[in-house]
Amino acid sequence: MVTESKCLNIKFENFINTEPGEDLFGKTERVNQVLTSGILTGNEGLGMQLMHKVQPESVIKEKNGEKHNVIMLGSNSYLNLSTNPKVMKGAREALEKFGYGMGAVSNYAGITDLHRELEQRIADFYNAEDCIVFPSGYGTNIGVISALCHEEDIIINDSANHASIFDGCRLSGAQIKIYPHSNINYLEKILSKIPETTKGRLIITDGVFSMDGDMAKLDKIFELAQKYRCKIMVDDAHGVGIVGPTGRGTSEHYGLLGKIDLNVGMLSKGPGGLGGYCAASKNIVQYLRLYARTYFFSTALPASVAGGLNEGFKLMEKDKAGRRELLDKTEYLKTKLENNGFDIGHSESAIVPVMIYNEEILFKLYQELRSQGVYVNIVTYPAVRRKECRLRLCAMKELSYKQIDKSVDIITKKGKEYGIIK
Ligand SMILES: Cc1ncc(COP(=O)(O)O)c(C=O)c1O
Repeated sequence: MVTESKCLNIKFENFINTEPGEDLFGKTERVNQVLTSGILTGNEGLGMQLMHKVQPESVIKEKNGEKHNVIMLGSNSYLNLSTNPKVMKGAREALEKFGYGMGAVSNYAGITDLHRELEQRIADFYNAEDCIVFPSGYGTNIGVISALCHEEDIIINDSANHASIFDGCRLSGAQIKIYPHSNINYLEKILSKIPETTKGRLIITDGVFSMDGDMAKLDKIFELAQKYRCKIMVDDAHGVGIVGPTGRGTSEHYGLLGKIDLNVGMLSKGPGGLGGYCAASKNIVQYLRLYARTYFFSTALPASVAGGLNEGFKLMEKDKAGRRELLDKTEYLKTKLENNGFDIGHSESAIVPVMIYNEEILFKLYQELRSQGVYVNIVTYPAVRRKECRLRLCAMKELSYKQIDKSVDIITKKGKEYGIIK
């Protein structure tokens, strides 16, 4: 991924389109020239290889083959369920019983009793009638939205919704409206202007926003949805298992469990596996099984993943997956960063943004933190606006307080060097 370098004015967007007279693949050559020229120290350094399962102190291999230790603040496996012994045992047993791939889509021969058990568990988790599990999280949003909405309908989105939601909206052909992040007055302005003749109306919001870690104002959105006869879809990818009195997510936080029309979430973050789901009424789920093309035309989740996820949900159902420990550690991390002068936004989850506001500094900081032993993610365009670029730290339940101290010390030292804090 190439991104902006101020002096050269090289931007990610410059390489999306084919230039007049250019070969279709010319843009790939242009990107390669920039990446191999050594003139950027940016996103081209993204990615590394883990040398073992993800854990608070991980060994990573860099692109030059060098291996070193990092404190891991870049994984969405917040509850460490991806490596939980019970979860891994469930996955291992399913692997032995069913093999490693399903070989068919869900509506044909791709489903095991473990898949169905998982759907039922998720439905119960949300107090919903039924649930459909998709083999990909990204594909869940694409499939659900494009199955239910079409040209005659309108979809109203928070501007900070995940890319997969916007892609699903575009594919649906519905009219798309966007309100500034969590701006409820603006949302109402949009809703009040929808013509009576418009057919279906759907408000979509992330539950926990993936780049800011804050929660949607779902209570207000719910009121407006009732007032203006809209349905609601919540993508709680980063809220499931983490927020709400028993970890059932953003809807539970607001006392709205069982009242949201489309409870979408991802199985790849807190639950530690892969895939996505939509818990909803029986009729909606049945409809999605037939009309969501990313379900109908895509091979089912491996049974080993379903087996692991069932064990993870058994823990989350009883609120025994370590949510409180995670939130205590997240609070500790946030407080330390804030006390040291960093702007960390308004996170209410295990996602901790550290605002940098300068892309050139962001890239340098990211590389240096990594070489000093702290692995964090960076976020800039196209995920957020460049001027809102940031480090994105993810807390993990198994991080020790000592590891948090050490990583904050390193981040603070570097933050001072680059003038981010005093
Ligand atoms: C809010 C949100 N929705 C959907 C997705 C896509 O999920 P997956 O990575 O499992 O495909 C993500 C992933 O980052 C996300 O943050």
